[in-house]
Formats: sequence, structure tokens, C-alpha cells
Amino acid sequence: MVEIKSIGVVGGGQMGSGIAQLAAANGLDVILHDSDSTALNKALKSISDNIQRLVSRGHLSKDKGADAFRRLKGASNLEDFHRVDIVIEAIVESEDVKKKLFAHLDKIVKGSAILASNTSSISITRLASITCRSSQVIGMHFMNPPPIMKLVEIVRGADTSDDTFNTTKCLAERFGKTIICSQDFPGFIVNRILMPMINEAFHALYTGVATKEDIDTGMKLGTNHPMGPLELADFIGLDVCLSIMKVLHAGLGDSKYVPCPLLVQYVDAGRLGKKRGIGVYNYSKTTKEMKPLARL
Ligand SMILES: NC(=O)c1ccc[n+]([C@@H]2O[C@H](COP(=O)([O-])OP(=O)(O)OC[C@H]3O[C@@H](n4cnc5c(N)ncnc54)[C@H](O)[C@@H]3O)[C@@H](O)[C@H]2O)c1
Repeated sequence: MVEIKSIGVVGGGQMGSGIAQLAAANGLDVILHDSDSTALNKALKSISDNIQRLVSRGHLSKDKGADAFRRLKGASNLEDFHRVDIVIEAIVESEDVKKKLFAHLDKIVKGSAILASNTSSISITRLASITCRSSQVIGMHFMNPPPIMKLVEIVRGADTSDDTFNTTKCLAERFGKTIICSQDFPGFIVNRILMPMINEAFHALYTGVATKEDIDTGMKLGTNHPMGPLELADFIGLDVCLSIMKVLHAGLGDSKYVPCPLLVQYVDAGRLGKKRGIGVYNYSKTTKEMKPLARL
């Protein structure tokens, strides 16, 4: 089993920046890459603010905070990944885009390196098939936000080796996470169950069963969920939710996974959730509240 000392994270959005922060705070050398330089700079700034906040609140010692700063580097170029022990990919939830990246990473990283994907739903076996190291490809699905949520769902592809699995499990445990293991089926465990519930909440809104507030309050107080499903969808990103529903539908072939037209329409309108300031709810004081989109 390889001891992981350095990590490359691809994608500096909500998930990639959280994973990079977690790794740096746990003593790994981290290189963070995003193809969008604005997103990369924003991610580095937010990680630095978060670490400062953790130190000022006493959740991280001054020394560990300074160490995390030293260990974290941004890279505009993927070629900088040639020495890392593991790459965790956290880019857009698109099989084609991820496959292109995996093929490219396979040529850059050293022979022993593991390629892990934070995908919410896409087949690890198919991502692995594009590389010449299918035994070293694995799903490492962090929850949002990665520094806080306790779970990592590990997904083995058809050819993932025991060694790759054990190394990935050790890394997740070093980050203080509890792991669960899923077979490589669309949506794995968590999103196989969560996303149809979120999609159903959109159907309830779409067909006028109730207001968004009542749907969310119903699920919070009625089933003890910390967030309502529509609020949670905004937090995850409506584009991510839609992509996952499409993967469930294509991969499992059951019409119960067809994305709700209202979810599709929100994404078409660019209302992607909290990250864009507006989704089902309006988070931005400058954006005018829009009427709910189409209803049946
Ligand atoms: N949002 C969640 O709650 C959540 C939870 C678990 C897993 N995931 C998964 O994590 C991944 C990322 O989700 P997110 O919410 O962080 O998305 P996001 O939209 O916040 O960030 C994605 C980032 O990837 C960058 N990117 C896109 N294509 C790239 C490429 N080819 N090379 C380098 N960078 C690229 C974008 O510029 C963007 O900054 C997805 O696979 C998603 O399914 C998301």
C-alpha cells in the first residue's frame, strides 16, 4: 500500500476547494487546478479564508494553519501533477468531460498514482476504461461541504485493485471520515436514494401540491431532515442534480428517474442554486425574485 503524501485536486468549485482544504489541513501537499483561472483564484482565496477562520476560532492550531498554507499550491497547468500520489477529480458532472480529463491525467501522472473521481453518479468502470491503469481508478465521493460532512462513499470499478481500495480507505480515514462502500451502479448509494426524493419535491412544486417553503418545512419538521429537499438541491447545485437524474435514467432505464421538467427549466434559466445566487430560492439581494417557473 502506497503512503499518500501529495495530492492533486482538479476542479476548484464547491467540492474541489473543500477537498483541497481538507487535505492541506491534514498534512498533505496539495496542488489545486481549475481550467478557469477566475475559479482557481476564488477557490484559493476561499480556502485561505476558511483556514484563517478555523485558526481564529481555535478549531485548528496556529502551527497547523500555517502548515496548511505552506502545503497548498494552485496550478494553471495539469503538467504540475506529475509527482502527486493521488489525483481527486471534482470537475463538472459530465462523463465525456471527465473521460477526456482521465485520459490526459493517465499520461501525466506517475505510474503508481491513483486516479480518484468525486463523481456523484457516473460509472467508475467507464472512467477507468479510458486509462491504462484501470486497477488504480476509484470513486471517492465526498459529501458537501467536504471539510464538514463525515461521510466518504467509496466506489470500486470492475478492475479496481484491493491495494487501491485500501489506500483510498486509509486516506479517507486520515481525513476523519466514515466510509461506506458501493458497487458501481448509477448514483451509488446516497444519490440513488437522495436524488429521486429531490426530483419528487420538484414534482410537488411543479404540480402545485404546495409552496416551496411548505415542501421544505414539511420534510424538515416532518422527517427530521436538517434541510428541506429544495433547499438542499440549491445547496448541491441544480445543474449537478439534473446531471445525476440523467445518469440514473440512462443507466437504470426506468421512467421513474426522468428529471422533473421544472428542474430542467430552472437549469435552462441559469438558476443553478446558491452558487449562482438564485435557484429555487433567491440568495442575492441584487437579483429580483423571479416568479416560480412553469407549473402544471
Ligand atoms: N455539489 C455537491 O453537493 C456535490 C457533492 C458530491 C459530489 N459532487 C460532484 O463533484 C463534482 C464537482 O461538483 P461541484 O459542485 O464542485 O461543481 P462546481 O460547478 O462548483 O465546480 C466545478 C469546477 O470544475 C471546473 N472544471 C470544469 N471542467 C474542468 C476541466 N476539464 N478541468 C479543470 N477544471 C474544470 C469548473 O471551472 C468549476 O470551477 C461533480 O462531479 C459533482 O457531481 C458534487
